[in-house]
Amino acid sequence: MNILLLGSGGREHALAWKMAQSPALNKLFIAPGNPGTATLGTNIPVSADDFPAIKKLVLENAVDMVVVGPEDPLVKGVVDFFRADENLMDIPVIGPDKIGAQLEGSKDFSKQFMFRHNIPTAKYLSVTSMNLQEGVDFLKTMQAPYVLKADGLAAGKGVLILNDLDETIAELKHMLDGKFGAASKTVVIEEFLSGIECSVFVITDGKHYQILPEAKDYKRIGEGDKGLNTGGMGAVSPVPFADEIFMQKVEERIIKPTVEGLYSEGIIYKGFIFFGLIKVGNEPYVIEYNARMGDPETEVVMLRLKSDFVDLLKGVAEGNLNEKTVEFDERAAVTVMLVSGGYPEDYEKGKIISGLEKVEGSIVFHAGTASKDGNIVTSGGRVMAISSYGKTKEEALAQSFKNAKQIDYDKKYFRSDIGFDL
Ligand code: AMP
Ligand code: GLY
Repeated sequence: MNILLLGSGGREHALAWKMAQSPALNKLFIAPGNPGTATLGTNIPVSADDFPAIKKLVLENAVDMVVVGPEDPLVKGVVDFFRADENLMDIPVIGPDKIGAQLEGSKDFSKQFMFRHNIPTAKYLSVTSMNLQEGVDFLKTMQAPYVLKADGLAAGKGVLILNDLDETIAELKHMLDGKFGAASKTVVIEEFLSGIECSVFVITDGKHYQILPEAKDYKRIGEGDKGLNTGGMGAVSPVPFADEIFMQKVEERIIKPTVEGLYSEGIIYKGFIFFGLIKVGNEPYVIEYNARMGDPETEVVMLRLKSDFVDLLKGVAEGNLNEKTVEFDERAAVTVMLVSGGYPEDYEKGKIISGLEKVEGSIVFHAGTASKDGNIVTSGGRVMAISSYGKTKEEALAQSFKNAKQIDYDKKYFRSDIGFDL
């Protein structure tokens, strides 16, 4: 089968790496891809949200299936675009349609969905300029810290957690006035939940689901989880506190009602669901849904997935995912993200990356890299994810840290405490 994978990050390199191991794969195309995916298939310089250009490349290359990495094309309706085109309608796209993608694209939509289906999540109120006073009154009934979320996609920056009530009210007004553009025309005020977070992933054909290995990511730039939020600085799988009892609760209270809820509402959801969870006491709550895999979680989830990934994707397309099995690798997997100095604020690009040939015993997934004049150079904040297996997470981490030191470029930075809290 010929597959087109959309996206260009570390997640996509990891997805491509796993697909390339499948005997069912014939040709792999990645649009636009990165220098890492170029070693596994053919990169095509087409943006993941340029639907007419994607159509052309699908038809020219006899693509049998499209797999969507990032959320943007999903929220913009790439699935709906395929279903509405008579030349594309029979080609499966792995990812939800525009309505299903609202689980990620609109916090208000996802909160309403969770309340309709009794899925445990923080109490909330959605506020627009029309009911600002109601929002202020709601905040006054709550205790610090206060959580404000832009309803729409805000590149991971749309969540504010504040301690002072007056400052929170001022920020609420600021957000409604367009602090995050159209994304914060509606703001979700949430009760603060205190606990430890982890990410759980399922793949679903709309009716059946299979649970993939869980992971924990490290979002802050600084060691000890301090400083600004980033896209993710590393990840670990398995997650020790996500034990069998916890995962049973997650499946019964969260995964089943989500998949059944989507189905019962007539939402055709064929793709990945990423549950951002928090364990409060011993109970799981949903912090957020994403309509795609996580990054950098995918860089460990794919290592721990033993089963044929392309076969699972076929199960999604054909609606017989219940007939497939998902086997996990017993080993631990970790990833350590090398980033550009200054990230997540301003940073320089175009730094020549050296030492890749010295890496042994880790898998290097490219994220923000580019090829230039025969060199691999940095082209983003998150540059590469150094993933390793180990009998324990400590063993895997030691391997990733060792290789993280072999690779070099000007102003390289990584967190050397990934997994510190587990
Ligand atoms: P989100 O984009 O919704 O995942 O929020 C980003 C981060 O903010 C989460 O990963 C949590 O660390 C934190 N957060 C979001 N909502 C809450 C909440 N209700 N209580 C506590 N922390 C939260
Ligand atoms: N690592 C979190 C995310 O992908 O949103």
